[in-house]
Amino acid sequence: MKKQTFYITTPIYYPSDKLHIGHAYTTVAADAIARYKKLTGYDVYFLTGSDEHGQKIERSAAAKGQTPQEYVDPVVAGFKNLWDKLDVRYDDFIRTTEERHKQTVQVFFEQLQQHGDIYKAAYAGRYCTPCETFFTEHQLAAGKCPDCDREVELLQEESYFFRMSKYADRWLKFVAENPAFIQPVSRRNEMVSFVKQGLEDLCISRTTFDWGIKVPFDPRHVVYVWVDALTNYISALGYGTADNQLYRRYWPADVHLVGKDIMRFHAIIWPIMLMALDLPLPKQILGHGWLLLESGKMSKSKGNVVDPLVLLDKYGVDAVRYYLLRELPFAADGYYSETTMAQRINNDLANDYGNLLSRTVAMLIKYQQGVLKKPQPAGALDQALINLAGETRRVVAADMAKLEISTTLATIWQLVGRANKYLEETAPWALAKDATQAERLNTVLYNVLEVMRLVTVMITPFMPNTPAKVWEQLGLTAHPALHTWESLQWGQLPPGLVVQKGAVLFPRIDLSEISG
Ligand code: ME8
Ligand code: MG
Repeated sequence: MKKQTFYITTPIYYPSDKLHIGHAYTTVAADAIARYKKLTGYDVYFLTGSDEHGQKIERSAAAKGQTPQEYVDPVVAGFKNLWDKLDVRYDDFIRTTEERHKQTVQVFFEQLQQHGDIYKAAYAGRYCTPCETFFTEHQLAAGKCPDCDREVELLQEESYFFRMSKYADRWLKFVAENPAFIQPVSRRNEMVSFVKQGLEDLCISRTTFDWGIKVPFDPRHVVYVWVDALTNYISALGYGTADNQLYRRYWPADVHLVGKDIMRFHAIIWPIMLMALDLPLPKQILGHGWLLLESGKMSKSKGNVVDPLVLLDKYGVDAVRYYLLRELPFAADGYYSETTMAQRINNDLANDYGNLLSRTVAMLIKYQQGVLKKPQPAGALDQALINLAGETRRVVAADMAKLEISTTLATIWQLVGRANKYLEETAPWALAKDATQAERLNTVLYNVLEVMRLVTVMITPFMPNTPAKVWEQLGLTAHPALHTWESLQWGQLPPGLVVQKGAVLFPRIDLSEISG
């Protein structure tokens, strides 16, 4: 049977600067979703990349006396290095300066023109270069950019415009008929009220600088950087080129994962450009909240960005991934602080999960020479644990169907918590003192280790490095069939299994050594 496809994307970030943990959050979340879908049997395509054109980049380069290309190359290499360190496994990385991307953008632009949706007119308005966004006078907030509160510039140039206004009603109808299209609901409501206030045509070319893709029929103009950037989602699939197999296989995207700052581009402008050409629309635009600091939103100009590489060196990749994915609920903002991060690592990873493994493995070694035997039939206490394990698998599947990663992890950790409680209730250390309880003791240890296996399978998409270490300790390295999603059935641990002590999975962090 042919697998169902699943195409997920991240924003392509600006290489104007190094990335911070906000960017890391989006990409790790997309990676976790991609891995989850692969684990559960989908044919997945996961795209990320870099958005290299535009005035902002051109200026950053000029300030360093470099060409834009010289400026972006090492920054983009830094993006890839960060994704490697975070164990992000994308299928493709698209750079907007690649030839394949330029081709698609030009074809797309030309198609819009042929369709009669592009016209030339004088543009006079305001532009926010950091946001690469046009604003009308009345959209400004006290004369400044309503999104980032910085100064805007007056632009007066002849430009090409896209007839976006013409599609407002069609867009509203589509959104009403497809409630899953913009998520979460709060963002859908924002987008709908924005469009209901009236859509204006979009300025889609510039002539006053040239770091961009040339308009095919008028090379004095470069394509507006957002039109260029949004097209990455299909240029990476070969749209409009001779080799469009990937496009045919994966488009429309299942999810464009983005931060709420760029919702309008993804939920309104991009779908309307596709609509104009009668192309299928992405199935979902998922706009997550921001990771904030007590001092406000992270930004280079405020000098308060948190470098993920520093955290990775200090805490390790799976701990950082866990923290990011657990801390930020999709629909709301979340606060970062190193202290809350360390507390999460200590409580959830070191105590609840890591310690459960090390205690149980140590007892099995101490009481049964490390050898697990066949368990007895389940008693009431055992059955409650077994039932919760089955239930957890179902709830995780339901949570992930909604792409609620933080909730998913909370669900899994309820089972971890229950297993810790079960250990307290059954007290194997007491059973070990009574020779007649040997079988009961074995059953208790079996049940806890089976929970450990199930939990470890379920966390694989989120913390891809930890499972191999756990399989090693559980003696399951040579049993790949017990690492799969299909193996999430109770009672698969083979009798005769030999466990072994390993390194501590998540060392406890000394909170007194943390400043923020
Ligand atoms: O907007 N919290 O690129 P960008 C959570 N090139 N997520 C955050 C964040 C924070 N504090 N800060 C950044 C662009 N992000 C365009 C995109 S796509 C066709 C073009 C994440 O480098 C979040 O995903 O400014 C946000 O939407 C994105 O980085 C913005 O990245
Ligand atoms: Mg931005």
